[in-house]
Amino acid sequence: MHLVLMSAAVLVLAFCGGDKGKSDSGPTPPSRTGQISDEEALPLLTTYCVGCHSGDAPKAGVKLDTTIDAKRFSTRSVEVLDAKEMPPSRARNQPSDDERTKLSKWFKD
Ligand code: HEC
Repeated sequence: MHLVLMSAAVLVLAFCGGDKGKSDSGPTPPSRTGQISDEEALPLLTTYCVGCHSGDAPKAGVKLDTTIDAKRFSTRSVEVLDAKEMPPSRARNQPSDDERTKLSKWFKD
C-alpha cells in the first residue's frame, strides 16, 4: 500500500517538474533589450514631440500626443528619430542619445 502511494507521488512530481522547467524560460524582460513600455514612452513624447505634434493642426499631420496616436506614425517617426531629423535642431528640448534610441525602439515595437 505504502509503495503504491510513493510511486504515485513520484509520478506526479516528475510530470509537474518537467513541465515547469520549460515554462520558466519566458520572454526576456523589457529592461534586458532596452525596450520601453507605453508608460515610459509617453513622457518622452510629451517632452520632445508633443509641442509641435498635437492639437488640431499638428506639424506634417503627425499627431503624437497619445501613445495610440503616435503608433499610427511609427514608420515615419523611426526614420526621423534615427536620422536625428526630429526634434528639429531649433527645438529647445533635445533627447539624449539614450532617450532617442529608446523612443525609436518603442516605435518599432
Ligand atoms: C519644434 C517643433 C517640432 C518638434 C519638437 C518635433 N517636430 Fe516633428 N515635425 C516638425 C515639423 C515642422 C515637421 C514638418 C516639416 C519637416 O519634415 O521638417 C515635422 C515632421 C515630422 C514627421 C514627418 C516626417 C516625414 O517626412 O514624414 C514626423 C514623423 C515627426 N515630425 C516626428 C517627430 C517626433 C517623433 C518628434 C519628437 C522626438 C518630433 N517630431 C518633434 C516639427 C517638430
